[in-house]
Amino acid sequence: MDTNKKNKIKEILDKMSLEQKVAQMMQIPYSVVGREKALEWAEKGAGSFLHVLGDNARELQETAIHSGQGIPVLFGIDAIHGHGLNENATIFPSQLALACSWNPELIEQMGKMTAREVAADGLHWTFSPVLCLGRDTRWGRIDETFGEDAYLAGELGAAMIKGYQGDDLRNPERILACAKHYIGYGEAVGGRDACDTEMTYRKLKDVFLPPFQKAVEAGCATFMTAYGSIDGEPFTASEKTLKEILRGELGFDGFVVTDWDNVNSLVSNQHVAADSKEATLLAAKAGNDMIMTSEAFYEAAIALVREGTLAETVIDEAVLHILTIKERMGLLECPQRKVPAEYIGCEEHLALNRRLADESVVLLKNEEILPLAANVKKIAVIGPNADDIRAQYGDWTYFTHPDPHPEHEPMRPYATVLEGIKEAAGADVTVSYAKGCAVKAADEDNLEEAVRMAKDSDVVVLVLGDMIEQAGETKDRADLALTGRQVELFDRIKETGKKLITVLVSSKPLCMTKIVEGSDAFLVSFNGGMFGGNAVANVISGKVNPSAKLPISFPRHSGQVPIYYNSLPGWHGGKYCDLPAEPLFTFGQGLSYSRFVYRDLAVTQKKDQLTLSVCVENVSERDGEEIVQVYFHDVVSSVMTPVKQLIRFEKVAVPAGMSKCVQFILRDSDFSLVNRQEQRVSEPGEVELMVGSSARDEDLQKTTITIA
Ligand code: GLC
Repeated sequence: MDTNKKNKIKEILDKMSLEQKVAQMMQIPYSVVGREKALEWAEKGAGSFLHVLGDNARELQETAIHSGQGIPVLFGIDAIHGHGLNENATIFPSQLALACSWNPELIEQMGKMTAREVAADGLHWTFSPVLCLGRDTRWGRIDETFGEDAYLAGELGAAMIKGYQGDDLRNPERILACAKHYIGYGEAVGGRDACDTEMTYRKLKDVFLPPFQKAVEAGCATFMTAYGSIDGEPFTASEKTLKEILRGELGFDGFVVTDWDNVNSLVSNQHVAADSKEATLLAAKAGNDMIMTSEAFYEAAIALVREGTLAETVIDEAVLHILTIKERMGLLECPQRKVPAEYIGCEEHLALNRRLADESVVLLKNEEILPLAANVKKIAVIGPNADDIRAQYGDWTYFTHPDPHPEHEPMRPYATVLEGIKEAAGADVTVSYAKGCAVKAADEDNLEEAVRMAKDSDVVVLVLGDMIEQAGETKDRADLALTGRQVELFDRIKETGKKLITVLVSSKPLCMTKIVEGSDAFLVSFNGGMFGGNAVANVISGKVNPSAKLPISFPRHSGQVPIYYNSLPGWHGGKYCDLPAEPLFTFGQGLSYSRFVYRDLAVTQKKDQLTLSVCVENVSERDGEEIVQVYFHDVVSSVMTPVKQLIRFEKVAVPAGMSKCVQFILRDSDFSLVNRQEQRVSEPGEVELMVGSSARDEDLQKTTITIA
């Protein structure tokens, strides 16, 4: 930032009283404190509010700019798969579903369109993307991740950040992104949300830091401090994490906001502070610039500075970080940004949503039954998630936040799987429907009706999964088996002998091995957004040739969890005596109606630059898209490294009968690791490169290179 802007911010700071400085660090939850209290906070100079929309936000802004130093407030919201808390907004597939597309370009577009809708609501900031890794499927927030792999999460997260922020934050249609939850939040023991992560700083830097580094490189304006702790040290109190690593090593220059009530949690949950003053001292010194909802921080910080326990320069530094971002957004000159309300839910955004939904449905099994043949005239659509838009949307929409609203009427347009199949069915095809059972056993379960429907059909589409109440914060699951009478429903349908297409509409992979093995086809939609139902129907009908691949492994059984493809090597076969070692489906898997053959894998090395090329031939009669994946394995390393790691990918369109060759440029630094001294280094020696259609060994061709 140029000098005169720095001076301008310094001038504002110098005019602020201590109370106004500390107020600027406060982020107040409108949905909790209500309008009156929020207006009081705006008069005191609160720096930010969350979960406030439209006119209420505009009123707060007017109050703020006519109070005290007149510093505009920042409005933040969880627009994490579209501006979902606004019932008229475009609700995209969840992050986990989007990750199945492996399409950074479309995800950047989705970020740009979400930003327009958030900005049209008078807001400035989304608490997105989530860069935590979904490695323990028991964790309640798998749906919010880009899956288990740090490279994929980093690429897709950086794309989303660029979409939200663009290259000029002064553009009123752009909003601040927030890389969260920093760091390693999904690694809590037992998949239990906000619990301790038993890892070392070496592992933190090796496995979990790279996506956040890409966020910094993408210019992400804010980071959010995770709830949990590393080896007993809460992230909120960790100067090493928030300053030494984030600012010192990664060069982050935005501001850090805590997660919900993190400061009080130091007292009430993590018990490293006896009272709010001790907690405030820890949090302020560790480098938390903005304090989400912990109102006690305000009085405590003022008292600590007054009594000389906390240097006012610590407060100054935090306020400067916040004012710098407000200046970068042009907020100081133009607090009330004008963005057309027509953006919200507009056709352009809905069209992108359809494309993303189509590219997010993963076909994992197909015993010659899909696309459905023309002679299929009777389709029975059965199951608890066949016609449930709430289950299809998943978490973080107007049904779930800021408070649960199960009573809300779902706003059109949207299409459930049933509606999608009806829309796609020809005039001569009849589509029948029976719920069969609920996700959780309920009185209205009616398996008999479903069985009758199945018997009177040519093919059954069985839609199973989970429900909103089984996903999200505080909704971790020890048992990932399908709940209610879903398995019984499958058994009864299976007994009819009808051809069976099973579809999973859920927040995460669930354990359904017997069902997958007993189905003729298996598709995964996760939470597919407004048009998730159309996307499933488009793949089943053949209108769309599926191209999606799994960003996360499917465990056979809860007892296998955590299970992910890039594990460290073990021995004794790394297996159980009662289960295979491998998951049911692994990272990178996904079928197409085309058939691709990989040929002519070649590597050329010049100094520290490596060019890997491979050709993909489409040996079918159907145009299709293939996600080419490149993995590497460090043959000998100073610390143990994964059996394989994703290092590049590219989605290529290959017309029927044609061949496409792709090139990947790799550098020594791509093969780096974090050593015992916690430094990221590239070590000389042999590296195996693997290219193919999934992380399974049988899908990969190998070659070996030597790093000098
Ligand atoms: C929540 C979540 C975080 C969210 C924040 C604001 O508890 O942990 O992801 O952005 O609070 O809603």
